[in-house]
Amino acid sequence: MDFQKEIEIYFRSRFTLIVVVSFEEERIVEGIKQVCEQLNRQLLTWDHADFFQSVTKNIVAPSGIKDPLSALETIEKLEGDTVFILRDFHQCWHQQPKIIRKLRNLAQKLKFTKKTIVVTTPLSQLPEELKDDAVLLDFRPPDVKELDVILTRLISTPGVKVNLTTQGREKLLHAALGLSSNQAQRVFAKAIVSGGPLDDRKIDMVNAEKKQIIRESGALEFFAPSETMNDVGGLEVLKEWLRTREQAFGNEARDYGLPSPKGIALIGIPGTGKSLTAKTIAGLWRLPLIRLDVGALFGGLVGQSEENTRRALNLAETVSPCLLWIDEIEKGLSTGGGDGGTSLRVFGSILSWMQEKTKPVFVVATANNISHLPPELLRKGRFDEIFFLDLPTLQERKEIFEVHLRKRKRVVAEYDIDKLAKAAEGYVGAEIEQVIIDAMYLAFSDKENPGRDFSNSDVLEALKKQVPLSRSQSEAILALRSWLTEGRAQSASFNEKQQAQEQFVQIEISKN
Ligand SMILES: Nc1ncnc2c1ncn2[C@@H]1O[C@H](COP(=O)(O)OP(=O)(O)O)[C@@H](O)[C@H]1O
Ligand SMILES: [Mg+2]
Repeated sequence: MDFQKEIEIYFRSRFTLIVVVSFEEERIVEGIKQVCEQLNRQLLTWDHADFFQSVTKNIVAPSGIKDPLSALETIEKLEGDTVFILRDFHQCWHQQPKIIRKLRNLAQKLKFTKKTIVVTTPLSQLPEELKDDAVLLDFRPPDVKELDVILTRLISTPGVKVNLTTQGREKLLHAALGLSSNQAQRVFAKAIVSGGPLDDRKIDMVNAEKKQIIRESGALEFFAPSETMNDVGGLEVLKEWLRTREQAFGNEARDYGLPSPKGIALIGIPGTGKSLTAKTIAGLWRLPLIRLDVGALFGGLVGQSEENTRRALNLAETVSPCLLWIDEIEKGLSTGGGDGGTSLRVFGSILSWMQEKTKPVFVVATANNISHLPPELLRKGRFDEIFFLDLPTLQERKEIFEVHLRKRKRVVAEYDIDKLAKAAEGYVGAEIEQVIIDAMYLAFSDKENPGRDFSNSDVLEALKKQVPLSRSQSEAILALRSWLTEGRAQSASFNEKQQAQEQFVQIEISKN
């Protein structure tokens, strides 16, 4: 629902205290002004610097009311159907507890009038005492339609040269999604004045600007991964799950009545390809990938962390459909430990957002360690599926060797993959990759024949030198494996038997 409709409903149903969260005060005032004109109400604003000001023509602002308490008293006394916007009023209630008490009293009293108080604030953190009396409203960044209005206004300026195709214009507007109207205006303006007409080539520029702005906002980062499914060895069950949902965010799936997938959790031993897989989904589904850095959510002032979380999740919704990748989700929790419950609250808000979100944001959460995770995170229904990435099977190790040999432009047939994969039992993908790099160093620095190519025996030697995590930390890994195999998660791989069978079938087919 759009902001004006929502606020109109609140006005009509006599909500007396509404807190609107946003930096975009001007747009809020403008939106409320239009609603007031429709409903034939008067609109006044009050702030610390300019005191009362009238916005609609049908009212004269009371003058000289300088302190917030007198402002509230004036609101109580004034006659008429009036909406009062108190700008940045959170500053006042942070300074004086009396203000909160007065606001609560007013919220009750105004129920018998047609007066409404709207507080604008960039913080979504309401004082405990106000939670029952106030409704909290999020003011979202402009959608494509509103961005179109901004763009149209800018390019109708005399002298501006525009050469956009219909598609290009669409893309340009989409590129600006997630920005506030001021930011969008600035970015469009920059694209217009930066040499040459405004044409399709400027789309990249708007995209780049947005990435910059989103990065500045802290916890979110745009990713342009180059990895594809072919870079992932094994994990067939997981890959198949992802392939089946390739079209899940398209219009056809929606028309068919399919709900868009909510998300998956990838849990398992470090180095098994969780982050790698997360990155490949974006390419497979052709969706933008945004990484949420949980650690970066925690910040300074009281309430700041929750605020950051809320803003980040809102931003993700605005650019949806997209993938929201929360890597090593347990890290945020442990760094946030001993902080008076902030980390748990931040987590709580991510969890309830995941449950309630209506926008197509697909969450990919990864974790190496489940012992710090709150059990409710992994409750059934939270994610579409929880995948467990175990030590790779023999067949998977073969594939991983092949992936990394190919990556280093070596001819796979020149290596005894079977032998190498058998020798690499207990090694995960990241370790196998490292072993190949070590083997390359061994060969490259060979005393007798420096720079020779590396061979099977170099790889075998490198394998012997590296102790895999499954051996050096066998207990921790055993604990994780047993936790996960107790039916809490689905294996991302076929088991050895299934794999052997698959191979057999493939051989049979190729024989025929
Ligand atoms: N299944 C795999 N197939 C191919 N390469 C892998 C695999 N698993 C890990 N790797 C290699 O190890 C690197 C690190 O793996 P990563 O995905 O970061 O592990 P995790 O996130 O599970 O700890 C990857 O970038 C990739 O090069
Ligand atoms: Mg990782």
